[in-house]
Amino acid sequence: MKSLLLAIESSCDETSVALLSRTGQIRACIVRSQIALHIPYGGVVPELAARDHLRVLPLAVEQALDEAEAGLEQVGAIAVTQGPGLVGALLVGVQYARTLGRLLGVPVYGINHLFGHILAARLEDDLPLPALVLLVSGGHTQLVGVDEALHCTVLGGTVDDAVGEAFDKVAKLLDLPYPGGPEVSRRAANGHASRFDLPRPLWRSGDGRISMSGLKTAVVRVARELGRDRLEAATDDLCASFEQAVVDVLVRKTLWALSQMSDSPPKAVLLTGGVAANPALRQALAELAAREGLIFCVPDPRYCTDNAAMIGAAGLVRWLAEDPGDRDLEPRSRWSLEQLYDAETETD
Ligand code: KG4
Ligand code: ZN
Repeated sequence: MKSLLLAIESSCDETSVALLSRTGQIRACIVRSQIALHIPYGGVVPELAARDHLRVLPLAVEQALDEAEAGLEQVGAIAVTQGPGLVGALLVGVQYARTLGRLLGVPVYGINHLFGHILAARLEDDLPLPALVLLVSGGHTQLVGVDEALHCTVLGGTVDDAVGEAFDKVAKLLDLPYPGGPEVSRRAANGHASRFDLPRPLWRSGDGRISMSGLKTAVVRVARELGRDRLEAATDDLCASFEQAVVDVLVRKTLWALSQMSDSPPKAVLLTGGVAANPALRQALAELAAREGLIFCVPDPRYCTDNAAMIGAAGLVRWLAEDPGDRDLEPRSRWSLEQLYDAETETD
């Protein structure tokens, strides 16, 4: 019986493969991170990422099948991240999915990575709709309204760095290990957020624009003023002050986005993407939702960061609707959530 959906994620620096049952049960989810590979460069090197996906993907598929005690003959559909992301990295997953789909004679679904982050909320729980989504990752920062038909409206987002990227850059600046986000948040937990008075960029802009660059510059300035000797002892406090400024900005912009949804008032607020693993942000958004009388949703941290199970959750929607699949799938390096159902590729 072809009862399983095979999902593949290779848009950045995680090679991930998952197997989901038709009821959405996660039978396996393998995530092979390339972090160690990119450490010497302090960031993701696209060519190295693609080459490593090529090496690891077949192994991860085998591992997922082993874990689920299943065979390829049970795979009835394939979901693969089509974009946005690094073209070379995406191409590895897309080509693999196309070839395997043809061999098995099953539909292949090209999935938007950001939509996957949203549907991660459905992996272990329900996502009440309409919902307002705060999607914060290393590559993206967006406020998205999602209606009952899963149509997305982008209400706001970053005008410069993604929030995760800002965390990573601040970590680099403070000589903390790569990837910096989790480390900054660990150090912040021991610090005093009130010690450094950092700016809240675009606080009064009255729109959904989010900016990180002024905040980053302020951290550079404080670090320089402290000097090498005093910086080490002040790192926890500086991390806490930075994290608090980010959280304040995100809470304010989320509130603004909620005010834009009066036509179809949301039932839930969803926090997702890699930065959703941040405890201070999770708490602040949970409190915001409670104050607004909304249900707060946040995936388990392992499904907040890049993983194939979330791609599977998005693929499942199409498989259950008996969608025949995409023909001649090509990677889309850029792909807005508002063009989920458009066939044409955006050009860079
Ligand atoms: O969603 P994700 O795995 O990859 C992208 O699609 O970008 O997000 C990774 C990002 C990284 O920038 C990482 O530093 C950040 O999420 N991150 C965190 C935390 N855990 C991961 N940022 C702040 N606090 C955390 N605890
Ligand atoms: Zn992601």
